[in-house]
Amino acid sequence: MPWYIECAQDDCRTRHCADYRGHNCERCGGLLEVRCELTGLNGAGLRATWIERRLSNLPLDGSGVWRFRELVNFFDDPGSVISLAEGRTPLLEAPRAGHWAGGVRLSVKHQGANPTGSFKDLGMTAAITRAVALGVPVVACASTGNTSSSMAAYAARAGLKALVFVPAGKISAAKLAQAIDLGAFIIELGENFDQAFDLVRKASADLGLYLVNSVNPFRIEGQKTLAIELLEQRNWSPPDYIVVPGGNLGNVSAIAKGLRELRELRLVDKVPRLVVIQSAGADAFYRLISTGAQELVPVMQPETEATAIRIGSPANWRKARRALIETQGLCESVTDAEIFDAKRALTVDGIGCEPASAATLAGIRKLCAAGRIGAGADVVAVLTGHQLKDPDYVIRHAGEIECGRRVQVKPEAGALRRAVERVLKASA
Ligand code: F0G
Repeated sequence: MPWYIECAQDDCRTRHCADYRGHNCERCGGLLEVRCELTGLNGAGLRATWIERRLSNLPLDGSGVWRFRELVNFFDDPGSVISLAEGRTPLLEAPRAGHWAGGVRLSVKHQGANPTGSFKDLGMTAAITRAVALGVPVVACASTGNTSSSMAAYAARAGLKALVFVPAGKISAAKLAQAIDLGAFIIELGENFDQAFDLVRKASADLGLYLVNSVNPFRIEGQKTLAIELLEQRNWSPPDYIVVPGGNLGNVSAIAKGLRELRELRLVDKVPRLVVIQSAGADAFYRLISTGAQELVPVMQPETEATAIRIGSPANWRKARRALIETQGLCESVTDAEIFDAKRALTVDGIGCEPASAATLAGIRKLCAAGRIGAGADVVAVLTGHQLKDPDYVIRHAGEIECGRRVQVKPEAGALRRAVERVLKASA
């Protein structure tokens, strides 16, 4: 077998049988990871194969996950892969936002261009493909919104039943609507993600549910391809920093794993420093890193308008800490007001994203101001979700956007003329 499952804890590394469905090590309780056999793979050969596939019309090659299938190789035949042509997301330069943040050379890897509008699709194609291989009938997740809409789509495509657990009234209406529209069953419970996650995690085995949260190691395999695609888009020249928002910390763990494998294959000689940005009301990981504590202390009542990352007890914190240690990474915490300003700064480059994604730029600005990221640094921010994932946020804040950007006038020619003249004067 070219892959296997083992405990991700360095002092354990217990191997598990391939059809093990749990997400925790049977010996030590730590999280698991899928190990892909890299011996025999040739870096230069892989580069050529992957580029060649960009010209292919095979469905598998049209996916930014499965195009890299030498490193995502836990399927038997191509027909068994559940894909919606995820990945292949743009890498856009954002010069004005980079200037605003402190004079960095900024580009953004926009995960909003995925089929359901977030980076979760990279992981979900992998997890649902695995669910089908295991023959499970029902998949489940707790979610702050994006995981649920992504799971709903891929489960529908695979003909599986999808069960979503979300905190009541705490996720964006757009994300909830997506999950409902795509046929998922929604169970609303608890005050926050952590409560819902804790309950579903404990109950899943008993209830016969296959959990596809980021504690599922196959999710991580899909998400690690973000690093591969990004490096390929940059002709294998690594940036100085890759910046991600941190919630349950699956994404940073996945990107670190991708980079680790690229390095092992000598596809890159330098690994970018990974940077995790958390929201100040939900920054347990930031506190862990900044204090050098050994164990994570959860934030019991996480609060932030960036609801996607409103998580008090990130499950992947050990993997994420390893990611920062390995890459000499950084961690920062930003307020909702800083996120708001950063989101607006991105729009000046014509780039929209959801609030959690804008936390990246807010963090870069803060790290630049503190001299921890230098002017001129080559920085990639991962924008995790589409602008339309949280329209309520924008409308709620519309009053803070320069007055005059949104006015209502009487439907008559004179009023219309005056309104237009005001706009023309304002933008002159
Ligand atoms: N950005 C967005 C838009 C997200 O939806 C999430 C997580 C994150 C960042 C954080 O990523 O958890 O890997 O550190 N959303 C999950 C969900 C928790 O349920 O949709 P992470």
